[in-house]
Amino acid sequence: MAEPVIIDCDPGHDDALALLLAAGDSRLRLLGVTTVAGNQTLDKTTRNALRILALAGAVDVPVAAGSDRPLVGELTVAEDIHGSSGLDGPELDVPVAEVAGVHAIELTRRLIAGSDRSVTLIATGPLTNVALLLRSHPEVMPRVRRVVFMGGSTERGNTTPYGEFNIATDPEAADIVLRSGLPVTMIGLNVTHQALATDEVIAEFLAMGTRLGVICAELMTFFASTYRRVFGFAHPPVHDPIAVAAVLEPSLVRTVEAPVLVELGGAYTRGATVVDLHRRTGHSPNADVAVGLDVQAFWRLLMDAVGRLNRAP
Ligand code: BDR
Ligand code: CA
Repeated sequence: MAEPVIIDCDPGHDDALALLLAAGDSRLRLLGVTTVAGNQTLDKTTRNALRILALAGAVDVPVAAGSDRPLVGELTVAEDIHGSSGLDGPELDVPVAEVAGVHAIELTRRLIAGSDRSVTLIATGPLTNVALLLRSHPEVMPRVRRVVFMGGSTERGNTTPYGEFNIATDPEAADIVLRSGLPVTMIGLNVTHQALATDEVIAEFLAMGTRLGVICAELMTFFASTYRRVFGFAHPPVHDPIAVAAVLEPSLVRTVEAPVLVELGGAYTRGATVVDLHRRTGHSPNADVAVGLDVQAFWRLLMDAVGRLNRAP
């Protein structure tokens, strides 16, 4: 039976692949998609989510816009990585579907309440919406199977030396989620940096010979150019679909239980995830932390999903 999931995202090139993976694998039931400000402003991430779901043929999946800023402070978007649209590279259609007439938090609440099984929340942007849901509707928590988020790192960051973008954008939200008591899985940069969209990956998208394949190739080509310019990486890491892969096939991602604390102060380290892998702090474990990835199996999963969407009527 397909596992019910809700994806909260800020598309975003790698968020787009996360949505395609979820839409293209029938082992998941994508109940809804909610959007948050992060890689770009909320209006842009929402428009991008609609565009990608339309490409996936997932037009029945309800989409709702959520928070337009972090819980504390101002939003700083990642235009240097994702471009002015948040999804620069391909020419994408203007979305035809419209957002649900409710806030993301209300849509999520309703979807969880209406689900016959407990729901897995997959978050691939700043955790603002998830934190607000847990704070404003704690009654949903027994019906949340777990939260799997892309964010943080056991090592260094990408937005500040120790802060990864999703956590550094809204550290207070991440802190709320990590302290919620729910089962939480953290997919950090320490594993996502292993999943690189190499030239072979881009060639495989192109070889699909379809519009979706070309769009994926163009997305990854743009993403490669910004990662090369900003970080000097030869190939860009596709972070977000690994959070979906961890739900689809948990054996692809090796995890260890560990205490994860979020640095909320810090002169230079606000937004860092402090992961106590060696249990030196005396804190209790509050997360399953990804420490290993079967890279080849991950790409197979993603390519198969995109391939299935290509064949869909
Ligand atoms: C995360 O930040 C965003 O730029 C990506 O979409 C991903 O969710 C990586 O740090
Ligand atoms: Ca993202």
